[in-house]
Amino acid sequence: MTANREFVWGPTYREMLDPSALPSATRQEARRARGNDLAPAGLFNIAWSDELGRVRVLRLPPELTGVAANILVLVGKYFPSGSLKVGPAYAAVMEAELDGTIRPGEATLVAPTSGNFGIGVAWVARLKGYRARVLISTGRSEERYERIAACGGDVEVIPGGEGGIGPILQKMRERYEGRPGHLVLDQFALMANYRFHRFVTGRNILEAAAGFGDGRVAAFVSAPGTAGTLAAGDEIKARFPDAAVVAVEPVECPTLVGGACGPHPVEGIADGLVNLIHNVLNTDYAIQVYGEQCLRGLRVVQQGPELLSHTLGVPEAAAQGLVDLFGPSGICNILGAMGAARALGIGADHNVVTVAPDGFDRYPSALAAFEARSGTIDRQILRHWAVEVFRGASSRGLHDLRTPEEKERLFQQKEATWTRLGYSREYLEDLQSPSFWEREAAQVADYDGRLREAREP
Ligand SMILES: Cc1ncc(COP(=O)(O)O)c(C=O)c1O
Repeated sequence: MTANREFVWGPTYREMLDPSALPSATRQEARRARGNDLAPAGLFNIAWSDELGRVRVLRLPPELTGVAANILVLVGKYFPSGSLKVGPAYAAVMEAELDGTIRPGEATLVAPTSGNFGIGVAWVARLKGYRARVLISTGRSEERYERIAACGGDVEVIPGGEGGIGPILQKMRERYEGRPGHLVLDQFALMANYRFHRFVTGRNILEAAAGFGDGRVAAFVSAPGTAGTLAAGDEIKARFPDAAVVAVEPVECPTLVGGACGPHPVEGIADGLVNLIHNVLNTDYAIQVYGEQCLRGLRVVQQGPELLSHTLGVPEAAAQGLVDLFGPSGICNILGAMGAARALGIGADHNVVTVAPDGFDRYPSALAAFEARSGTIDRQILRHWAVEVFRGASSRGLHDLRTPEEKERLFQQKEATWTRLGYSREYLEDLQSPSFWEREAAQVADYDGRLREAREP
């Protein structure tokens, strides 16, 4: 890598929200880059929309969900690098470039991750001309390590399983904070993560929901890893103040529900923190889903259409369309959305929206390990699982987080974690005010303006 390389610019926030705003020559280049993982124009494919500008959204078959409400799922697997996490990764690098913090050829991007953010950072780094160093814990699917290496990222494996990112964040700070030539991208604290999901995911959800039922969003449901995706809820509430924002947690890791966390099998979510970028003011409820049920549900969906058709009456074509679309956290979100629809009594014609952060491509090894510890999985067991998972045994009732006492408890949990990681009490107090989040969101227009200027020849 040579020093002082030129900047390789990508899309603005607005262009990620609506790629049809891009000049047609850029759109064509981006289309060609779809077949070439290393073409810089691929940065312009970071979007929820397909080539025709339609948000990739799926209304789950009601025979699968068993609820009257429309369960709408935004599909994340078609993002470059294979997950929605490339959006926050790109936004963070783009903001750091515009802020004058990094230059291509001169910096190493350091990213703590459960996998997808690291894959996203490694991919963005390669296209933009940076080195990437990804800090990941043991116990993640093998495909994740392979993908980071394939993008040229260095992997530093840190012992520790699901259910606790704290030690990784601590190590990352000790080793890399303030080290010359290194930029730490702490996705749990990065406002670019908040901005991407609030502006891009949030508005795309509003656009997608407009095409279904009453066109509104009755509830938005997402299992937080960093709680970046939950920021979409802030945008949804700005439009539909009555919409319920629901965080999903594995029963095994009740952080928002009860300040605790144990190991659980759903990769990418529930790291045991109230995240810095989580605007807890706007999270109305938490719903608990059994982690094991997410893997059972994934196994059932991956079995193919015959099983879902025979057990639940899902039309075969619809069931076939679900194969390969989800990872465990996507199933977790879906089970949380179904549970929330039931618990909140959301009826026909109303939309409950969630996301599938990535697809099945990075989980064959995780599912194989699940099968190995489950013993023989025959047709009878699969039929039993299909009914058990999709007919209500997968989640517990809602936990109400709207009271002042609950908000105070969450603020305190957040303060305990983040003061330990070096943030001041004053800053954390600032995060308790709605105006803090509005100010952060307003910076989207500022970064977009600066990026447009920087891109001009
Ligand atoms: C597979 C998967 N699901 C869910 C999430 C959670 O998304 P967020 O960090 O936006 O809360 C992540 C985040 O890394 C992920 O990789």
